Amino acid sequence: MIKSRILGVGSYVPPRVYTNDDIAAMMDTSDEWIRQRTGIEQRHWVEGAMNTSDLALAASERALESAKVSKGEIDCIIAATLTPDHDFPGLGCFLQAKLGVPGIPAIDVREQCSGFLYGLSIADQYVRTGTYKRVLVVGAEVHSKGLDRSPAGRDVSVLFGDGAGAVIVGACEGTPKESDSQIYSTHIHADGSYAKELWVAAPGSAFGKDRIDHELIDSREHFPKMNGKAVFLHAAKRMPEAVMEALEKNGKKIEEVDLFIFHQANLRINEMVGKQLGIPSEKIFNTIQKFANTTAATIPIGLDEAVKAGRLKKGMLVASAAFGSGFTWASALYRW
Ligand code: UT7
Repeated sequence: MIKSRILGVGSYVPPRVYTNDDIAAMMDTSDEWIRQRTGIEQRHWVEGAMNTSDLALAASERALESAKVSKGEIDCIIAATLTPDHDFPGLGCFLQAKLGVPGIPAIDVREQCSGFLYGLSIADQYVRTGTYKRVLVVGAEVHSKGLDRSPAGRDVSVLFGDGAGAVIVGACEGTPKESDSQIYSTHIHADGSYAKELWVAAPGSAFGKDRIDHELIDSREHFPKMNGKAVFLHAAKRMPEAVMEALEKNGKKIEEVDLFIFHQANLRINEMVGKQLGIPSEKIFNTIQKFANTTAATIPIGLDEAVKAGRLKKGMLVASAAFGSGFTWASALYRW
């Protein structure tokens, strides 16, 4: 049976850094509040006309280089984002044009913070069935152009950063041994009854003939809204469940995992997940301090940062889990 593995990883964040103090100069918040409630110290935001496909392109090129795969060898693109360049077509098409690889499929995934793991899951199925041999999975976001900087939006706006991360998923050579690099399994879930707990309402077909109007803009419906407490509580429950699901599926114990690369929504959520599962804190690789929440880009940025920091090495067993808008949640167990 064909199995897949991650062949390489890359990431890109725009150069401009905004500290919490920079944010406090723009809206009614403080470094102390942001740091204490979330663990965030700074985030990267784009400048000028830089958009999501630009970030995705830079991360994809780095992932290709790391995987030693040429762009002509990719046979499918899966792009996860909640902040596409335009309403349609999707990020995947714009990225494909910038990469210059016409003809191959470009699939958009819209599962927000779980988007990268959803994308990884789709790539894994395609490779396992022999449909595609080398799939580019990229998560990219430009949040900074869609945040409500008025007092009404401060609970959400301080949380998000811009960035992109990508992996190349390819087939293992032959049947991998237990200790070889491979994706063991991926697990994806959703519960749409909570869709409005974290969402952007407009523009949309739920409204009048123009999908958006001045009234919607005046009532700030084109900005993200969140019931932070509900999201927090569900995340702290679903992420440990998803990790256990992946471990049980593969007959592995929590102690066997070398590194946990979780989604980064709030340092306190990851600490609670770690506590519930009895994970020593040094095994959880957090990046929220530097990048804030970059939704679909978070996990591949985390992987790339962990490699660069020497924390993620060949042969390590890695577990990832994410939770976000939808609600959606997901996990993956893989050997690097
Ligand atoms: O990626 C998945 C999506 N996101 C998440 O998973 C996020 C999950 N939720 C959270 O991380 C937390 O709920 C937040 C960090 C968003 C908020 O933390 P909290 O401890 O739940 O705070 P809160 O919403 O209960 O607000 C506490 C106080 C309120 O003031 P009062 O009513 O106590 O006077 C807020 O108005 O903090 C105030 N507040 C702020 N103050 C300064 C809310 N946002 C801010 C802010 N700066 N940015």
